[in-house]
Amino acid sequence: MQIISNRVRVSSNSSAPIREFIFQSRYAERRHEPGICDFTLGNPHEMPLPGIVDAIQRHAVPHDKDWFAYKTSEPEPQAFLAECLTEELSLPFEPADIALTNGGFAAIAVALRLLLDVGDEAIFPVPAWFNYEAMLLAADSVPKKVNLQGARFDLDLSAIEEAITSRTRLVIINSPHNPTGRIYGRSELERLARMLDRASERIGHRILILSDEPYRRIRFDNHEFTSPAKIYPWTLIAYSYGKVLLAPGQRLGYLAVSPLMPREERQALQQNFFSAQKNLGWCFPNAVMQYALPDLEKLSIDMTALASKRRLMTETLGGAGYEVLRPEGTFYMFCKYPNGDAQQFLDALADHDVFVLPGRIVDAPDHFRISLTASADMVARSLPIFADVAGTMRKKHQPAA
Ligand SMILES: Cc1ncc(COP(=O)(O)O)c(C=O)c1O
Repeated sequence: MQIISNRVRVSSNSSAPIREFIFQSRYAERRHEPGICDFTLGNPHEMPLPGIVDAIQRHAVPHDKDWFAYKTSEPEPQAFLAECLTEELSLPFEPADIALTNGGFAAIAVALRLLLDVGDEAIFPVPAWFNYEAMLLAADSVPKKVNLQGARFDLDLSAIEEAITSRTRLVIINSPHNPTGRIYGRSELERLARMLDRASERIGHRILILSDEPYRRIRFDNHEFTSPAKIYPWTLIAYSYGKVLLAPGQRLGYLAVSPLMPREERQALQQNFFSAQKNLGWCFPNAVMQYALPDLEKLSIDMTALASKRRLMTETLGGAGYEVLRPEGTFYMFCKYPNGDAQQFLDALADHDVFVLPGRIVDAPDHFRISLTASADMVARSLPIFADVAGTMRKKHQPAA
């Protein structure tokens, strides 16, 4: 008997590479050992920001009998976020534009549920975060991957345009981008918007953008950020506090409609947030996280420490022969193996207790991703190892004289 639904089987196949990496790999065997240098996932490797602990403790104390009653998108955090977003993105958000969710995953799942019918197509550029495909399959829709272009992984507008069919409903744009660290500029987004206007006209219905921007606040060198929501009215924003707070286990995020969206569709989305969230399994944040939101909004991971890890790693790896794309945002660094076979390289690193995210998991088998959320000590211990492994690989693959 086939007990598992087709939907789950298909999306589960798509999740196999990341699932095996987390649960069945050499990394899986070692991941909780204290001595390893863990550059794999965007997880904390140092104690949490004290402000998070204070906020959660303070708001865990009930003020009234309803403190832990069912919570939807509560009016206070909605109004608070509307003000913050209006200021941050210079767009006039209304409280009703914002659906509070238990993290970015839920914001994305709710957006897919709201926008996509069975068989609708959604385009996203790769390499990409390793969950879009599986989430789209789980939403009974059809993922369409298009390549980012060149060594800097720019958006390839012609490739996106070519992938558009009469079933296309959505394009997912992730900036700052996981895994490359790129931030797409305003003019690139304007060209994308013009192309989507033309394509929507041609296919006879509007293509929407889901702007997945959980790394929006994590930017280096005062790099500018433009949300597609400001350029293309038919945009929804997915956000998570898991990144900026580096506390992804304390689930908090939101889905927001661009205030530029025409009134009729904007209201339709506002009015359907509640049902979509409830029917997907109560995708609202816990009560305490909602009360704590205004305090959490003020906090951020230490950007100076992150920038210093970025500098050390780009200098050392670049000097050792890796091709390193200096990230503009996110806490990831995308690197190309200096030479040789990816698996040999990963094994050599693992032999020295250093673990990175293999590029095959994000559709880029000749690359690997480093998460700069590793501790400063892990960074220091790993630098000579990255250099040695590159040297050993070079010797191994040098043609005999
Ligand atoms: C691009 C992107 N979107 C969404 C998410 C989901 O974030 P969260 O786990 O905080 O919901 C992640 C997490 O890694 C991500 O990298």
